[in-house]
Formats: sequence, C-alpha cells, structure tokens
Amino acid sequence: MNPQSDLQQFQQHFGKKIEECMIHSVQTLNIPNTLKESMIYSLQAGGKRIRPVLLLATIQAFNKNPMHGLNIAASLEMVHTYSLIHDDLPSMDDDDLRRGKPTNHKVFGEALSILAGDGLLTYSFQLIAQDQHLLDEQKIHLIDLLAKSAGPEGMVGGQVSDIEGENQTLTVNELQSIHENKTGKLLTFSVLAGAVIAQASLKEMEKLQQFAYHIGLAFQIQDDILDVEGSEELIGKPVGSDESKHKSTYPSLLTMQGAKEKLQFHLQSALDSLESINIDSTILKQIAQLIADRNH
Ligand code: IPE
Ligand code: IPE
Ligand code: MG
Ligand code: MG
Ligand code: MG
Repeated sequence: MNPQSDLQQFQQHFGKKIEECMIHSVQTLNIPNTLKESMIYSLQAGGKRIRPVLLLATIQAFNKNPMHGLNIAASLEMVHTYSLIHDDLPSMDDDDLRRGKPTNHKVFGEALSILAGDGLLTYSFQLIAQDQHLLDEQKIHLIDLLAKSAGPEGMVGGQVSDIEGENQTLTVNELQSIHENKTGKLLTFSVLAGAVIAQASLKEMEKLQQFAYHIGLAFQIQDDILDVEGSEELIGKPVGSDESKHKSTYPSLLTMQGAKEKLQFHLQSALDSLESINIDSTILKQIAQLIADRNH
C-alpha cells in the first residue's frame, strides 16, 4: 500500500461521516427555513475537512474508535465554517468566493450570513453537550477547550489582530502570534480534542500539543503562499485577497523563498514532536505532510 493511501482512505471514509453528521443534525432542527438553508449551504460547500479528520485521526492513533468523536468533529467543523462565513463578510476580508461557490453573504445577504455563523457557533456547543459517547467530564473539558480555542483568547482574538495589522508592516514575531491565534488554536483543538476523547496521558498531550502548534503555523503559512501562487479554481477562493487588503503575510515579510523555508521548518518540528510517544502516528504524519504540500 502506498503511504498516501492510508490517509486518503481515512479521509474518504470519515469525511463522508462528518458531512452526514453535520447536515443531519442541522436538518432536524426546528428553525426558520432560510436560516437552515444558509447554514447548510456553507456546511455542504466542500471544505477539505482537515480539522475534523485530524481529530478523528488522533483518536485512531490511540487505537480507539474514531466514531466516538464524530459529534465533536462535526462541532469543530461547524465552528470553523462559521469563522469562514464571518471572515468573508464585507466588513472583514470582503471576499466573494469560498469553497468554490459564492460566499454566504452573496447568496443570503449579510444579516442572514452573520446569523448563520452565530447559529453554527452556538449549536456546536449544544452538539457536544448532547453527545452520548463521552463522559460528562470529557464533555466539559472539550467545551472549555473549544471555547478557549475559538473565542477571544484564540481565533476571534487572532482575527482582530489580523484586521488591526492591515496596512501595517508587522514584525515576523507579531505575524506569528496572529497566525498562532487565528489558525493555530483551532488546529490545536483538533488534535487535543482527539487526545481528550482517547484519554491520552499528560506526556502524550504535551507532545501532541507541540505537534499541533507546528502544523497550525505550517497550515497558515501555506494558506498565505497559496493566496499568492495558488490557483483560484483549486483553492476555491480568490487569489490575491491578502495583498488587496495590505495584510502582512509570510511571503510579504520573508519573501516566497523564506516563507517556504519556514514552512519546512514547522513541518519537520511537527514530525519530530511525535517521535518520543508511543502511538500509531502514521496518519497524523501524513496529515502534516499534506498540510505542507497541499495545493488547495
Ligand atoms: C481556511 O481554512 C481558513 C484558514 C484558517 C486559513 P481551510 O483551508 O481549512 O478551509 P476549508 O475548510 O478547506 O474550506
Ligand atoms: C482567516 O485567515 C482564518 C480564519 C480564522 C477564518 P484568512 O483570511 O487568510 O483565511 P482565507 O484565506 O480567507 O480562507
Ligand atoms: Mg481573514
Ligand atoms: Mg479571508
Ligand atoms: Mg488566507
């Protein structure tokens, strides 16, 4: 079997389950139809599902059943999808294309897209609280972790710093701190949530946190690179969005070559973090590699 195929099979199998779980959960809600359509429009719009797949792959690395994390993986992807809907709004990045389709506000209008995002965010916590597989203490731990990762101390804070950094030349350290928060924290949640569900030890958690920290940075560096040299058709969102908003990015601060070197550094550091723990890290390593090599 070629090394790529483990991940491809895992992604195909669980990607479908994650999508079914998200759509089914929202379908059954007794809510205004337009709100349901707007939420489902963005959930169905074909994202890579890298965060929920990472969560389930972490559970699998401990030889536990990934299906026990399915609701948590679905909630995570809902939070991520909400962050994209809001990120594209005219008052934020003002983008018209997402996941290869017109952005949510282009189809449903701004008010509904703000509310669809709010709906996805709050509903994600409901989904965790109602889960049938996990212990109450695990659910509280996950709710606390997700709130910290997505909220003011995490993604939301990072998005604010990202906006405040427009039209300014930041230092690389400042930019790294923005990336850690706006993108890294949710990717770190993906891995740590899997570890909480698999009841990992403290040492395993620590090493997995390091792994996630580095893939989080690698992920956003590659996102910045693709914003310059990616293909709009493949990435499903506009190329050149960062430059048009005068954002500092890794390529703009370090040159394209420098950004690619940083990316390789974080990939290698991520892989090294997994060396001293005794888990089946085959798929996790392949995800790290994919994050650095991806063209979409
Ligand atoms: C885009 O995330 C937003 C960033 C944090 C860079 P993804 O590249 O994972 O987007 P989808 O989910 O595949 O659409
Ligand atoms: C935003 O980063 C990441 C989020 C928290 C949504 P970007 O603004 O670079 O994400 P894209 O490129 O629009 O997906
Ligand atoms: Mg943005
Ligand atoms: Mg954006
Ligand atoms: Mg981007």
